[in-house]
Amino acid sequence: MTDAANDRQRKANLLSVRAGDVELRVSQCGSGMPILLVHGFPLEHSMWNAQIEHLSERWQTIAPDLRGFGGSQCTPGVTTMEQMADDLNALLDALQVSEPIVFCGLSMGGYVAFQFLRKYRSRLRALVLCDTRAAADSAEAAEGRLKLADRVLETGTEQVAEAMLPKLFAAETLQKHPSIVAFERQKILATSPEGVAAALRGMAQRLDFTSTLGEIDLPTLVIVGEHDAITSVDEMRSVSQAIPNAEFVVIPHAGHMTPLENPTAFNEAIEQFLTRVERD
Ligand code: MLT
Repeated sequence: MTDAANDRQRKANLLSVRAGDVELRVSQCGSGMPILLVHGFPLEHSMWNAQIEHLSERWQTIAPDLRGFGGSQCTPGVTTMEQMADDLNALLDALQVSEPIVFCGLSMGGYVAFQFLRKYRSRLRALVLCDTRAAADSAEAAEGRLKLADRVLETGTEQVAEAMLPKLFAAETLQKHPSIVAFERQKILATSPEGVAAALRGMAQRLDFTSTLGEIDLPTLVIVGEHDAITSVDEMRSVSQAIPNAEFVVIPHAGHMTPLENPTAFNEAIEQFLTRVERD
């Protein structure tokens, strides 16, 4: 399929769905085992375009915009990771997805995955944790987020784009693939300051799941970019070592945004994992 045809196909699969007290935009493609693709901060579902295109040939991909992001409704104040997990649970109900899902979350999407696991374990078939962390924010990091939330409300999301983009991507991506970076910049600038501030406050108060990693009894794949400046390879390796039987994959030529920066390696890793999950 050409890029334009792919774009049309994706748009045709975008739905607006009432999930609890919010209207969420979601891309739903393909059929079979459901894979829930949950984006990072401050982005939206399109960061998964290459995975939606590839994985939906064999499985069902469900890629929502979280509350406050992309085309989803924004509720000002604080959006906790628990609230986002509740939203996703309501979304799956609204989409009538009753089969257990594979939850694939990147960074903030991973923080939501831990909450989803805590509350909705019976809905899960497997986990894919990408470039994320189980630990809570330090007091200093949480304070920095709260200050940033106030500034974003005063002056808009441009400063978040300036602060985040150099950390999201590997130096190689920033240099050689400016169109990927420009695409994400545009998405950040289009995000409502209220949504960004609410998620910053929610991330600042998220729980620490480090001590519960040993209790995870689901097939789990842990993925990290070799140059991830936000969640290091060492930190992600420790997460994978703490989860019984977890698989660990380092994606070359990628920073924090592994699915976008090296979609070929990312898709191969996740496809192999999903094939095993489906078979076992
Ligand atoms: C993300 O990519 O979702 C963010 O880096 C998460 C964070 O700021 O902790």
